[in-house]
Amino acid sequence: MEMQRKSKGNFSSKIGFVMAAAGSAVGLGNVWRFPYFVATYGGGTFLFVYLLLALVFGLMMIIAEVAFGRKTGKSPIGAFKSVNPKFGIFGFLAALVPTVIFPYYSVIGGWVTKFGFQYLRGGGYYASHDGFFSNFNSTFWDPIFWLGLFILITTALVITGVEKGIEKVSMYCMPVFFLMLVGLVIYGLTIPGAMEGLRHYLVPNFDNLSVMTFIAAARQIFFSLSLAMGIMITYGSYVKKEQSIEKAALQIGLLDTGISVIAGMLVVPTVIAIFGDEGLGQGAGLMFITLPRVFEQMPGGNAIGAIFFVMMLIAAITSAVSLMEVVVASVMEWFKLGRKKATIAVAIGSFLLALPTTLGFGVWSHVRWAGMNMLGIMSFISDTVLIPIVALSLSIIVGWVLKPHFIRDEVTAGGKHEFKTEKLFFFMIKWVAPCLMLLILVTSILNTFGFITI
Ligand code: PHE
Repeated sequence: MEMQRKSKGNFSSKIGFVMAAAGSAVGLGNVWRFPYFVATYGGGTFLFVYLLLALVFGLMMIIAEVAFGRKTGKSPIGAFKSVNPKFGIFGFLAALVPTVIFPYYSVIGGWVTKFGFQYLRGGGYYASHDGFFSNFNSTFWDPIFWLGLFILITTALVITGVEKGIEKVSMYCMPVFFLMLVGLVIYGLTIPGAMEGLRHYLVPNFDNLSVMTFIAAARQIFFSLSLAMGIMITYGSYVKKEQSIEKAALQIGLLDTGISVIAGMLVVPTVIAIFGDEGLGQGAGLMFITLPRVFEQMPGGNAIGAIFFVMMLIAAITSAVSLMEVVVASVMEWFKLGRKKATIAVAIGSFLLALPTTLGFGVWSHVRWAGMNMLGIMSFISDTVLIPIVALSLSIIVGWVLKPHFIRDEVTAGGKHEFKTEKLFFFMIKWVAPCLMLLILVTSILNTFGFITI
């Protein structure tokens, strides 16, 4: 990373770390993926489990990663190796996660770019038509073009090292984005039928509660908080001792979760108001099909849509940059390449890897495995195979291999800060995290062999 070339303690201010981490965390995961997970996995029931897990388990995982990074002062591979040279493999796996995610993230980033341009050109009206999204995806070149453009923008930022400015971009855009979402939620709830949808979103029905709800929520939490991919470990290695890790984790977690909850409150009720309950099954296209219809009904909807998609694009890019950075850093290390060459190689490789995913929504939509399209397969690999392995190893190292007092010392910086959640932390890291990760791994194996369908 650019930051690695400089001395330690790189974040210039406490808020700098929180903003950089939030810039990575807040992205498509919140506005695109969260609402469609809520819609797919049971509305209020999913929301309830998500909040419970995010605010208890997710926060503890952030603390674990940041503390691990600050303690070792190293990049993920180095951090794992410093515990035991054999553990380097887990650092390698951690780097593999963004290698799988970045390509499919860019496919969705391409959709956002497309919609952004569509609205900027004043064509929001067409975007709200039935079939606009599916027509776009069923063509061959159009989605590939926008995917390529998204990767190009991200690559340009990573190559020029402009990403140093990202904490600032996040700092200014995040509040605007937040307010805009809140405004849209208020409008959305005035659409007839939206209140019924809000009930579906907020009220859990515990008859629907299943193991799947927990698995889906855990998958989404890791994705949304940028966990188990070395990002928080790397950021942690630049955090100064003066900063309370516990407080920072709380701020990052609350901000990210808050934005997801609000985005869900916008998308889920409006889907139900506009399309009825069947609308919930639209999957990955949910946001792109529903929101244009909402904008179309609003006065000044085209301008609002334009601002929305541009803000969304900025949020997606700040996350994509953090994803690409980790991959580039690893490629530089393994192949002894310079930064420029490594970045170009990663850009080309990711573009090629993204092609099956994008085609999976169009000409390859018949390619399915256990009912999943290409996007489903890619996120299955990242969320239910790689991430659980990395998270499992991290929790075992932090909870069992490193002695608790190492972590306590790190989090309190030798007594400077409080560690209010210490007991909860060790309980989560030692017991809950390994059980949950094993559960995900086992179900994904059962799924692979056709015993169950995730
Ligand atoms: N957390 C980001 C989001 O919610 C995505 C992301 C995942 C970014 C992993 C970095 C690493 O959009």
